[in-house]
Amino acid sequence: MAAMLLEPTPENLETCARALREGRLVAFPTETVYGLGADATDDRAVAAIFEAKGRPSFNPLIVHVPDLAAAEALVEFGDLARRLAQAFWPGALTLVLPRRPDCPVSLLCSAGLETLAVRVPAHGLARALLRAASVPVAAPSANPSGRLSPTEARHVAEGLGEKVAYILNGGPCAVGLESTVVGVFDGRAVLLRPGGVAAEEIEEVAGPLALPESDPAAPRSPGMLASHYAPKRPIRLNAAEARDGEILLGFGADAPPGPNLSPSGDLGEAAANLFRMLHELDGDDGRTLAVMPVPETGLGRAINDRLRRAAADRDG
Ligand code: TXA
Ligand code: MG
Repeated sequence: MAAMLLEPTPENLETCARALREGRLVAFPTETVYGLGADATDDRAVAAIFEAKGRPSFNPLIVHVPDLAAAEALVEFGDLARRLAQAFWPGALTLVLPRRPDCPVSLLCSAGLETLAVRVPAHGLARALLRAASVPVAAPSANPSGRLSPTEARHVAEGLGEKVAYILNGGPCAVGLESTVVGVFDGRAVLLRPGGVAAEEIEEVAGPLALPESDPAAPRSPGMLASHYAPKRPIRLNAAEARDGEILLGFGADAPPGPNLSPSGDLGEAAANLFRMLHELDGDDGRTLAVMPVPETGLGRAINDRLRRAAADRDG
């Protein structure tokens, strides 16, 4: 049976909140991408997420809560982590922190690590749902594992429609890129995944961010599999123009007419458009998608990270 797409009325919010408390899966909008939510304290509900996504079970999940106080009940905040939370929550920052000994969240969410990823999303519907549910909500992006992240309710319906109880429709996601994942280990901040908050902004609060490669103590974000965003088409990056038979995805004012991540060269706009355009331009006719270069600054780092994964060779 296909999932029910629900418009965001108060009754429907309550229906979704109840479904979560009953251990069912609910897809909901956040400002970054749509999440595939389940009660994070319910092992079976969390297992159903892995099952629905076809996700390797070693990949841990982000737990969503309505505010910092709710996060403090789950994980240990040192000074630096608290400053980051105060600066960027609600918003597109996920913090990976040590689980509290009394953390009620399923160990499946941590996938064997002693840490837990937590985030307070900024989307009004997400926060209303989290408050109404009154349980922490584990939610990866609401796409089958290895596929593009959904930035509209219909992307969820197409990818996972059969597997969720409800999809709460919040329209297109404003940020359009997953959250930035930062771990704080021994008082040092490590960038585990670039995302919706630019690393430069985080460095203004945290000082220089370490990269996982340079910090052997930090567990690498297991979600950083090379080919994690695979569209069906082959992708060619840094394309100056389309070759014969290719489809071009432009960026900036110099691009020829056609699909363009941001005709004005605005990286925020490009981030918001990225997954939707990759979805729209995808297909299995064997043609290659050639993508024009995107500058490696600010949100461009996260955009290029997703593009490189989308382009990674999937045969190996
Ligand atoms: O914007 C987002 O972050 C969206 C929305 C729904 O919140 N969620 C999302 O979740 O992108 P997911 O599961 O697709 O990606 C979570 C990332 C993965 O790279 C995962 O490996 C990493 O966070 N992660 C989660 N828990 C971790 C942990 N304890 N240690 C290290 N990395 C962790
Ligand atoms: Mg994902």
